[in-house]
Amino acid sequence: MLDLSTRYMKLNLRSPIIVASCGLTGKLENLMLAEKYGAGAVVMKSIFEEHIKYEIHKTLPSAQGENYYPEAEKYISKYAETYSLDSYLKLITEAKKHLTIPLIASINCVTSHEWTEFARRIQDAGADAIELNIFLLPSNHHYSSEQNEQFYFDIVREVRKHISIPIAVKTSYYFSGLAKMALKLSWTGIEGIVMFNRFFAPDIDIDNFTITPAYVFSRPEDMVTSLRWVAVLSDRLHCDIAASTGIHEGAAVIKQLLAGAKAVQVASVIYKKGFEYIPVMLNDIEIWMNKHKFANLNEFIGKMSYGNIDNPASLLRIQFMKNFSDISNDE
Ligand SMILES: Cc1cc2nc3c(=O)[nH]c(=O)nc-3n(C[C@H](O)[C@H](O)[C@H](O)COP(=O)(O)O)c2cc1C
Repeated sequence: MLDLSTRYMKLNLRSPIIVASCGLTGKLENLMLAEKYGAGAVVMKSIFEEHIKYEIHKTLPSAQGENYYPEAEKYISKYAETYSLDSYLKLITEAKKHLTIPLIASINCVTSHEWTEFARRIQDAGADAIELNIFLLPSNHHYSSEQNEQFYFDIVREVRKHISIPIAVKTSYYFSGLAKMALKLSWTGIEGIVMFNRFFAPDIDIDNFTITPAYVFSRPEDMVTSLRWVAVLSDRLHCDIAASTGIHEGAAVIKQLLAGAKAVQVASVIYKKGFEYIPVMLNDIEIWMNKHKFANLNEFIGKMSYGNIDNPASLLRIQFMKNFSDISNDE
């Protein structure tokens, strides 16, 4: 009998596949489907910091620097009309009655002001942990790297003041010193880092001269970015890692665990193939574990991390020496 359980951010997960925060995880029936089909945990759809502030003030400030856009303002006020904060809290309470797997609430945040007390209400409603989905595009040329990074530490510090349940930070790779930043975040006492979120990316419609959303869902080949960084950082961080982006099959889950992730998060594959695909991925993991004679995940988590492979430099290589140099023409 194989054991697929894992421990991620002090939570016991019966399997390493977590359904990531997305539109699907804002509904009780889908949270229950995640449980039914074998997910180890589920991350609820993010509530926006702006939404919390909107309910506090019943108005949105129209200009808050570069992280505030009119489209967001319209979205938040419309969203807040339909979904009150109470309905988010009620969903947590209701979901906890039906689920046995851990329920992770999610807050999409850009500042540490005013809203952080709300985290306590999420804890009181019964969430097992909170994921802070923090991202600031480092596009403001007035801010130094240190100033951009400080936002993250301020948010974590303020949220920690209000809650005792585990906290994960879901982040991006837009840091000039990514390794040090991840290490410093892990020193703050957070229990997990989710590497990495995928964000809205703009495209340009060349006939209508408009900005349009680029592709919404990830592709399997997107997985390699987080794979490298999970492998490079997993031995060094003082908290657990959940890998995210581009994980579409059992083999990708195995790779991320070998790199040192304690769990993975999936969204796009659930949109494309349904919750029913979770057991297919779990079955593929079991087939592979049988083949390699692993009885549980701990026997191979981190086996291919930076500190555990013979040639760690292979994880740091960034140039295609062989493929794009003249030498390749000779082969
Ligand atoms: C339609 C959609 C909605 C999403 N909404 C959120 C969200 O509210 N909060 C969040 O932290 N991530 C959100 N994400 C990002 C996912 O949680 C995930 O990190 C990302 O899609 C990468 O995983 P994937 O490659 O398995 O899709 C969303 C993704 C999609 C596709």
